Amino acid sequence: MALDVSVCDELLSTTRAVRKRLDLSRDVPREVINECLELAVQAPTGSNSQGWRWIVVQDAEKRRALADLYKRDAEPYLRSAEEQSQDGTQTSRVFSSALYLMEHLHEVPVHVIPCLQGRPREGTPVTALGGFYASIYPAVWSFQLALRSRGLGSCLTTLHLNHEKEAAELLGIPDDVIQVALLPVAYTLGTDFKPAARPPVANITHWDTW
Ligand SMILES: Cc1cc2nc3c(=O)[nH]c(=O)nc-3n(C[C@H](O)[C@H](O)[C@H](O)COP(=O)(O)O)c2cc1C
Repeated sequence: MALDVSVCDELLSTTRAVRKRLDLSRDVPREVINECLELAVQAPTGSNSQGWRWIVVQDAEKRRALADLYKRDAEPYLRSAEEQSQDGTQTSRVFSSALYLMEHLHEVPVHVIPCLQGRPREGTPVTALGGFYASIYPAVWSFQLALRSRGLGSCLTTLHLNHEKEAAELLGIPDDVIQVALLPVAYTLGTDFKPAARPPVANITHWDTW
């Protein structure tokens, strides 16, 4: 089957970090999350390690506790970043949107925490470290694309990771499993999203020689 290039391009160019347009009032069925995870685990992993583990949090009290952990470091960081970038640029809009998410994280119906089996030790060589983390992010992105294709949205966040241990205790995650992100997941308010402005690829690409 030949893929429809225009549909694929639309998906790849309009899957945004969704925060203000998450529908906080609509439930997300478990089957949709499962379908998207089935697609996510088609992603590549180093040495075919497939060390991914996923925690899907629907429980309201646990989402509230995760949102509190997130806010602890997000609040000072995002407030100061927003103050320093109030000029209507793409980045200042990102900080305003990130503050909104921080305030509403507990209301987002599902939190998905992608994890990896293993925990790199201090001094792990760069190649091993790169390979370790690179064995989850393609799957995370596939998960986000699959959500978008079904009318849902998400945002890759990492700000709760400073309190990873407390999140692990809350969710019963064993010590040898590391959390790599937290994705708030909900249906989106409308499905029309636009490509973001990005620098021309010609300015950042080198052919044959730097
Ligand atoms: C590694 C990584 C960490 C991120 N952490 C956060 C975060 O903690 N909170 C948040 O609101 N957004 C976070 N983001 C989302 C980025 O802010 C967002 O992708 C970026 O602003 C570009 O927006 P776009 O994805 O809509 O193009 C993160 C993205 C990446 C790739």
